[in-house]
Amino acid sequence: MANVKPAEGKLGILVVGCGAVSTTFMTGVLMARKGLAKPVGSMTQYDKIRVGKGENKKYLAYGDIVPLTNLNDIVFGTWDVYPQNAYQAAMYAEVLKEKDINPVREELEQIVPMKAAFDKNYAKRLDGDNVKDAATRWEMVEQLREDIRSFKEKNGCARIVVIWAASTEIYVPVYEPVHGTLAALEKAMKEDDREHIAPSMCYAYAALAEGAPFIMGAPNTTVDIPAMWEMAEKTKMPIAGKDFKTGQTLVKSGFAPIIGTRCLGMSGWFSTNILGNRDGLVLDEPENFRTKEVSKLSTLETILKADKQPDLYGDIYHKVRINYYPPRNDNKEGWDNIDIFGWMGYPMQIKINFLCRDSILAAPLLLDLCLLSDLAARAGRYGIQRFLSFYLKSPMHDYTKGEEAVNDLFKQYTMLKNAIREMGGYEADEEID
Ligand SMILES: NC(=O)c1ccc[n+]([C@@H]2O[C@H](COP(=O)([O-])OP(=O)(O)OC[C@H]3O[C@@H](n4cnc5c(N)ncnc54)[C@H](O)[C@@H]3O)[C@@H](O)[C@H]2O)c1
Repeated sequence: MANVKPAEGKLGILVVGCGAVSTTFMTGVLMARKGLAKPVGSMTQYDKIRVGKGENKKYLAYGDIVPLTNLNDIVFGTWDVYPQNAYQAAMYAEVLKEKDINPVREELEQIVPMKAAFDKNYAKRLDGDNVKDAATRWEMVEQLREDIRSFKEKNGCARIVVIWAASTEIYVPVYEPVHGTLAALEKAMKEDDREHIAPSMCYAYAALAEGAPFIMGAPNTTVDIPAMWEMAEKTKMPIAGKDFKTGQTLVKSGFAPIIGTRCLGMSGWFSTNILGNRDGLVLDEPENFRTKEVSKLSTLETILKADKQPDLYGDIYHKVRINYYPPRNDNKEGWDNIDIFGWMGYPMQIKINFLCRDSILAAPLLLDLCLLSDLAARAGRYGIQRFLSFYLKSPMHDYTKGEEAVNDLFKQYTMLKNAIREMGGYEADEEID
């Protein structure tokens, strides 16, 4: 394997937020390593990649190409504004049945949330009191750094990864004077600029400062700003984000290439869904929904490009709606109506109805993102990890250098496979498998 440090010792996975997604993820990993459940949907656990060509070709699991952390070496920790342990939170979330939680109940009960770095202005619908008392954003950072250090020491971890699976914060547009450089960001943290420094930025900064990769699973702008890219560069740590690509957007990024590849036209795509979990409750607040909307809308325009094909994609009406509807809890139902046109402009319609389970789709992504970010750190890769775009709704890219987001699921898969090949010392290629 090419210059990748081995995955020796324990990997501490610190999940921000102890809600539906994070407890489904933790429970699944703990059950899988007891042999009581299968980690379905996880590429690192199931997928095989072709390496070599012609007579020399072989299909290998990721762990046979690169040194990945074994599930048995993972230790979980978390932060949340509510004090309930991971067992209580998993029961509250009602994603998994009791019979799928109870065999690991004792382990989950040991996972007790540390006090959250929280600001109610960023998620008005939450009112837990397991919250840090910090005079400034900078103090928040220092307390989080202390949490990471003591977790690492107490649990004998060799490495840490921090992943955000907490509620979506209100929309924080990129504000150049604060987010443009690391020096400006640090200054604003010290001056307690609460308008431009979201709590999530404190987690990200603390993780990077402690030598841990940071992954943003919600659509928050947190690490999608030049100041954090600079921090990642300075600390030589990987960052990834943003927003787990689970249900409707997964379908979109897999389906839109069908239209684009065949040079069919599109006049509109209307996506709506109902969900009733706490995520849905937070997103019911317009300022929080705005963050999600920006993320969800970005997918189509990079797959069906108006400037490249103005006749076909010059006038797409793209709309995304999320409706909070408690009876469905975590079982989100998504509807997509796609208006396309063909030969001589004749219109057609496609309807997709996805009755999904949000956290069941998200959990394997958390596992892969954590294992692959840890791998990237050991391989000396730092900054934005574009090869992880595959897992993300609104993949980060350095727009100051004219980079474009890659949203096409199949292009993203090629990027993922090639990064694994390269880290394993094999040649990257795009040959059809
Ligand atoms: N499930 C999916 O398919 C999916 C897909 C993409 C993104 N996401 C995102 O993942 C996140 C988690 O979703 P969920 O369904 O588990 O939500 P959830 O409401 O069940 O859990 C989120 C938890 O985060 C906690 N929290 C909020 N702010 C915090 C802070 N500053 N520090 C620590 N904890 C904090 C909340 O108290 C809550 O317990 C959401 O942002 C959601 O938008 C989910």
